[in-house]
Amino acid sequence: MPSKKIQHILESQQFNRHWLLTQFFPEVARMKRLVEVKGVSSALSDKTVCLLFYEPSTRTRISFEQAAQKLGAKIASTENASEFSSAIKGESLADTIRVINSLKFDAVVIRSDMEGGAVEAANVSQIPIINAGDAAGQHPTQALLDVYTIFEHFKRLDNLKVALVGDLKNGRTTRSLAYLLGKFKKIHFDLVAPAAFQMKQDILDYFDRHNISHKRTKSLESVADQVDVVYLTRLQKERLKKNSKVNGNGVRLNDKVMAILNKKSIILHPLPRSDGFNEL
Ligand code: NCD
Repeated sequence: MPSKKIQHILESQQFNRHWLLTQFFPEVARMKRLVEVKGVSSALSDKTVCLLFYEPSTRTRISFEQAAQKLGAKIASTENASEFSSAIKGESLADTIRVINSLKFDAVVIRSDMEGGAVEAANVSQIPIINAGDAAGQHPTQALLDVYTIFEHFKRLDNLKVALVGDLKNGRTTRSLAYLLGKFKKIHFDLVAPAAFQMKQDILDYFDRHNISHKRTKSLESVADQVDVVYLTRLQKERLKKNSKVNGNGVRLNDKVMAILNKKSIILHPLPRSDGFNEL
């Protein structure tokens, strides 16, 4: 973890290869065993966590709640904070975070509807802010989970070919995953998306700065026989203009792709899958 005083989780670049391999993964394995064997723990029994979700969520919110509760923490949660919090009355995010601080919570899990919202929250917070997705920005905790899943399967994260597929422009999971997997050695990315949904320049610049091998393509079929990981994502409809025309050809895991897919490869999807691209 970075040596900042308050240990926020804001973007996946803040983590490094060494920490993931030597501290995070062993700790996740320990927690997994704990859940399987004991079900619960009292590790956080003196803690309270505030969950502040301004955008829709099923898995992320429920799994944060479940994790906090299984570790003995108490939670306060608002699942539609843009309507059911004082945001609708015009309160700024900074003020909301200041109030949560004054109520002596131990951490805030936030899904902001603004890119950079988690950073904005962290700027005024004395307690850790955990970014559970900031609009089209990042989703670092999903990326931590994804790299663990890949690591568990291959027992390595170096020397992998990874296809990131779908709405790479608006999807925050692929952005965070690109930053995080980019920390490993000899990683190659195939960025598979229709032209209008390709990865944004900040990630391409990051790849270039760190000499990370990558190729852009419109067709999953063209790379399916070579990749170790296929990471599919949905069309982020909510970030498009109404009635935008989209064509999911090329980013679908159809029979043709399945027939040529490298048999040792694994398929991941952060979910939800949807009929926008009908990718899975
Ligand atoms: C993703 C998200 O919210 O960014 N879901 C998740 O957290 N697992 C993926 C998505 O919405 O497409």
